[in-house]
Amino acid sequence: MTKPVWIKHITQLATLASEMKGPRAKEAMSELGLIEDGSLWLEDGIIQAVGTTTELENLYEERAHEAEIIDATGHIVTPGLVDPHTHVVYGGSREREFEMRLEGATYMEIMNAGGGIHATTRMTREATEEELIEQTTKRLDSFLQHGVTTVEGKSGYGMNLETELKQLRVMKMLQDAHAIDLVPTFMGAHAVPPDFKGREDEFVDYLIDHMLPIVAEEKLAEFNDVFCEKGVYTPEQSERILEAGKKLGLTPKIHADEIEPYGGAELAAKVGAISAEHLLKASDEGILAMATSGTIACLLPATALYLREQAAAGRKMIDSGVAVAISTDCNPGSSPTTSMPLVMNLACISMRLTPAESLTAATYNAACAINRQDQVGSLEVGKKADVVLWNVKSYQELQYLFGVNHVKSVWKKGVQVV
Ligand code: NIG
Ligand code: FE
Repeated sequence: MTKPVWIKHITQLATLASEMKGPRAKEAMSELGLIEDGSLWLEDGIIQAVGTTTELENLYEERAHEAEIIDATGHIVTPGLVDPHTHVVYGGSREREFEMRLEGATYMEIMNAGGGIHATTRMTREATEEELIEQTTKRLDSFLQHGVTTVEGKSGYGMNLETELKQLRVMKMLQDAHAIDLVPTFMGAHAVPPDFKGREDEFVDYLIDHMLPIVAEEKLAEFNDVFCEKGVYTPEQSERILEAGKKLGLTPKIHADEIEPYGGAELAAKVGAISAEHLLKASDEGILAMATSGTIACLLPATALYLREQAAAGRKMIDSGVAVAISTDCNPGSSPTTSMPLVMNLACISMRLTPAESLTAATYNAACAINRQDQVGSLEVGKKADVVLWNVKSYQELQYLFGVNHVKSVWKKGVQVV
């Protein structure tokens, strides 16, 4: 039995608690549910009480001797961060492409010449399950070190049945073996496999008829994602894939309007996607359609920075009523990072989110983007005891001192892991 944990005298406790259910938009993204001199009681993996230190002393003083007591004077505490978009399971790495891009090659040129996603696909196909587990474990450890306690992960470096299933099974194994909660997404349509080039519709048929049913039957994924982009999958092909997944119980997500405006945001709204990702080039109509449909914009400012592109219009999206989440996009090509704190900084610097909006985007709204808002994303009684203690005294300072990992301690389901 692990001891209860009693965190007391938290200078600023950002609970992110709210009466409102569902993704937060507009002003609601600034409501952090702050408590001064706050306190938390964690027990049995769950948050048992949240309030001021005085309130919890009234409730728990008699049980104080049972608990590990943490004095958080001078620190802030937030929910464990949630990363709702990663490609964390992959083989190998692509540092040579980084160099090539700095020498002038573009992301799509490298991919069309057989590098990029195709290179990682080859390395992932070659890797054994054990090798993938070992490499992914290191990345998940790094996520924890950066305060992230829930991570979505996509397949998509297989693009054949065998390797797509291998990636999803690795996630399933790590869900049991690693402290982090992993949420699986099938992304068989991450690129067009070289042997299907020019026959994209045939691959779409194959994916719909032979891959999706097995993924759904084996319950290997909750979400179904597609790279809707010029030169990859058209909006029509993407729609077919996402609708087919819906029939099998897989919720749509979509990589949309990353490199060129392509109607991806509009499609996300049309198919009722839970989130649309990237959106660097989303149109005004697409943004309005997402605000109306309640589709979450999952924005990836580290990817934009890494590709040296203008970040998505996060400020405009929030002002237009779109609920925004943020994510690392952790992958070996366009965003090889596990640092959600850096992504929070970049959300402020390059997309003009306020520090409060950025924290909401990395916690509660991120949880909504993977349908986990009933379990994580805010510090409320009954939710998982996923908690981060930071070496800063205010949430503004967390966003202001940028590029630094301010994590002091992390509890996952009430157990200290960092
Ligand atoms: O989200 N845009 C497509 N997929 C990934 C990149 C994957 C890769 O380069 O390996 C992304 O950025
Ligand atoms: Fe991605």
